[in-house]
Amino acid sequence: MQEIKEQDTVLTPAPLLSVTRLSKSFGQTEVLKDISLEVFPGEIVSIIGPSGSGKSTLLRCSTLLETMDHGSLRYGSDTVCEALGDEFGPSQYVPKKELSKIHSHFGLVFQNFNLFPHYTVLKNIMDPQIKVAHIDKAQAEKTARDLLGQFGLSDKADSYPCQLSGGQQQRVGVARALAMKPEVLFLDEPTSALDPELTADVLKVLKQLAAEHITMVIVTHELGFAREVSDRIIFIDKGTILEQGSPAELFGSSNPRVRDFIGKLSA
Ligand SMILES: Nc1ncnc2c1ncn2[C@@H]1O[C@H](COP(=O)(O)OP(=O)(O)OP(=O)(O)O)[C@@H](O)[C@H]1O
Ligand SMILES: [Mg+2]
Repeated sequence: MQEIKEQDTVLTPAPLLSVTRLSKSFGQTEVLKDISLEVFPGEIVSIIGPSGSGKSTLLRCSTLLETMDHGSLRYGSDTVCEALGDEFGPSQYVPKKELSKIHSHFGLVFQNFNLFPHYTVLKNIMDPQIKVAHIDKAQAEKTARDLLGQFGLSDKADSYPCQLSGGQQQRVGVARALAMKPEVLFLDEPTSALDPELTADVLKVLKQLAAEHITMVIVTHELGFAREVSDRIIFIDKGTILEQGSPAELFGSSNPRVRDFIGKLSA
């Protein structure tokens, strides 16, 4: 019989992001109800679900654009907020100066590009590297030009955002976020403002990143894309995770709510 050695034990990697028992209300409305989520290195996680179900709010709480009411949030071993009392207790955030370093863990891309209109494409990608990450100018430019090359935008380096198509702007937005070398890249409906042809360009870039195992959490209505690239798909309905699993599990779900949603979007 083969001896079992200690080093044979399979170690699970530590999650890059841990959200535990997150709840969030706006006024009287509880928008997120007891959400727990872990994201592991190299994972591609898609979040799908009906409009108003809380997908953007989950991303906004995870990226410190909103505060959560209950539960805890951690990036690796860095705590953002801790639940007081029990796991479901009120969230207590760490002091502001500790929060600033949390931002280096993640990048965020919205649906509406949010580039600086008065900066060239190159400057849009270089500026955060220089100002926030204190990377020297030559290195920042090299990173920016490499990413533009990778995304087929080398000839747009000196253009202004208004001279670019929506799909090109969105690819610059992705390049800008990636230039900061985030551990986790969040994307909130990165293609929803685009027509089908431009959507295809952006999805191509995201597929490239998926193939490189860049860790991503993507809110999307592009079910075909989610099915193709995701390691895990999470279905959120009315502020709770109704179901999660591999694409095969989600697309084969027997839950009527999930089936109905997938059926409508795939139609
Ligand atoms: N700042 C806010 N103040 C008040 N209510 C808000 C705020 N932000 C979101 N909500 C409400 O929270 C609920 C969830 O919104 P959220 O934007 O997270 O949904 P979503 O799943 O991203 O929807 P969509 O697919 O349409 O983008 C909605 O009912 C919305 O009206
Ligand atoms: Mg949204």
